[in-house]
Amino acid sequence: MTLTLDPIAWTDVGAVTDIPLRGARRVPTAQGDIAIFRTGDGAVFALKDACPHKGGPLSQGMVHGRAVACPLHGWNIDLATGEPMGADHGKGCTPTIPLRVEQGRLLLGRA
Ligand code: FES
Repeated sequence: MTLTLDPIAWTDVGAVTDIPLRGARRVPTAQGDIAIFRTGDGAVFALKDACPHKGGPLSQGMVHGRAVACPLHGWNIDLATGEPMGADHGKGCTPTIPLRVEQGRLLLGRA
């Protein structure tokens, strides 16, 4: 049996090094703003740029570990899942966006 996988369109949105360690960048798209994060150990993640609480701009939050603290009310959002952490776990979820790195370039995906 041969599986047919849906293709993902990948868009080059810049160099990994454009984003400082423990930093973030907002990428405006036709589907809304996307936040790309780079952790202290160099991992990268992409989420819709909207907090699951009241839509705060996560790209302006503080990255710590594998999470970002929302700049509006301080919820901590898991960068890998988009889910609030700690006492706010289970109160919504920010959609994750496919992201990969190829030859130092950030490729943002959309199924
Ligand atoms: S909008 Fe993010 S914590 Fe309230």
